[in-house]
Amino acid sequence: MATRKQLPKYTVPTLTPDEGAQVAEVLQLRLHALNDLALTLKHVHWNVVGPHFIAVHEMLDPQVDAVRAMVDAIAERIATLGAAPSGTPGAIVAARTWNDYSLGRATAISHLGALDEVYQGVITGHRTAATDVEELDDVTNDLLVGHLHELELFHWFVRAHLESAGGALSTAGATTEKDAAQQATSATE
Ligand SMILES: [Fe+2]
Repeated sequence: MATRKQLPKYTVPTLTPDEGAQVAEVLQLRLHALNDLALTLKHVHWNVVGPHFIAVHEMLDPQVDAVRAMVDAIAERIATLGAAPSGTPGAIVAARTWNDYSLGRATAISHLGALDEVYQGVITGHRTAATDVEELDDVTNDLLVGHLHELELFHWFVRAHLESAGGALSTAGATTEKDAAQQATSATE
């Protein structure tokens, strides 16, 4: 664990202040990741163009609503643990380990390809965080696993657009949003 500025004055029963701080630190990066995801999904909602515009535009708003609810639950869990949640844009940019979403105005299939990469990253981070807190705090583990039920469903909603009748993903092997967008587009040409 990285060094922490200060220990909480109190935390949830049976955890030590140090354990509460460790769990809160794990949650803080998930708060940043999901705040970023909610903004990214709205950015796509506004910038998607071309055939299938309305399907993707309308698919994304319920995802935004669900992710914002997850953000609120994470921030309030951090506070419950006795730590102070950080929710400012500057704090997200300073702490994040990923880049800004890389597409602007683009077709539905391009954005869906890129969103496959976005969800891949967010879900991997959330699964790692759930494992990291598993021994320390069952309640936080349960919170994160609950989010994964929805996040992995939303990931499938995206991937179903990229899947062939044989079950293969057009984005397979891509490691960047732009490559995934390109592969997704090529598959439909
Ligand atoms: Fe809208």
